[in-house]
Amino acid sequence: MATERTLVLVKPDGVQRGLVGAVLARLEQRGLKLIGLKLLRMDDALARRHYAEHVDKPFFPGLRDFITSGPLVAAVFEGANAVQLTRNAMGATHPLDAAPGSIRGDFGVDLGRNVIHGSDSPASGERESALFFAPEELLDWTRDTERWIYE
Ligand code: RTP
Ligand code: MG
Repeated sequence: MATERTLVLVKPDGVQRGLVGAVLARLEQRGLKLIGLKLLRMDDALARRHYAEHVDKPFFPGLRDFITSGPLVAAVFEGANAVQLTRNAMGATHPLDAAPGSIRGDFGVDLGRNVIHGSDSPASGERESALFFAPEELLDWTRDTERWIYE
C-alpha cells in the first residue's frame, strides 16, 4: 500500500455555508490523517496554477471568479489510497450525478458550487499540496490510532 497525499479544498461556497467542519469530519472519520490545514483566499495567480489543466477552457473565468471570491480551507490528508478514498467520498463532479451519502451528493446541487476539491491522482496530490503549503507546514506526526485503521 503506497502512502499518498491529497489536497482538499473546502471551496468558498462550503465556507460561506458553514460546511467546513462537516466536510473535514467525513474525511477524518474515514481514517485519513490530517497533516496540513489553513484558511486562505486564492488569488488569480494561484487559481491559474491550481487549475492549470482548465485555464484555456470556456468555464475557467467563471471558475476563477468563484474560487477567488472568498476564503477557502485547504487541507492535506495522507494515507494509503488517500486520493481515491477522497474522490469517492466527494462524489461525482456534478452534484446531480453524485450519489447520496457523498459530500457533493449530500451538500450540493450545482456544478459550479460543488463544495469540495480533491486531487485527481497521486501526482496531482503532491503538486497541489506544494502549491498551498510550504514543506514545514506539512507535519510528520504519529497517529496513535493507526493500528485500528490499518491491519
Ligand atoms: P475539482 O478539480 O474542483 O476537485 O473538481 P473535479 O476534479 O471533480 O472536476 P474538474 O473536471 O477538475 O473541474 C474543476 C471544477 O470546474 C468546474 N467545472 N465547470 N461548466 C463546466 O463545464 C465545468 N466543468 C467543470 C466544477 O466546479 C469543477 O469542480
Ligand atoms: Mg479536478
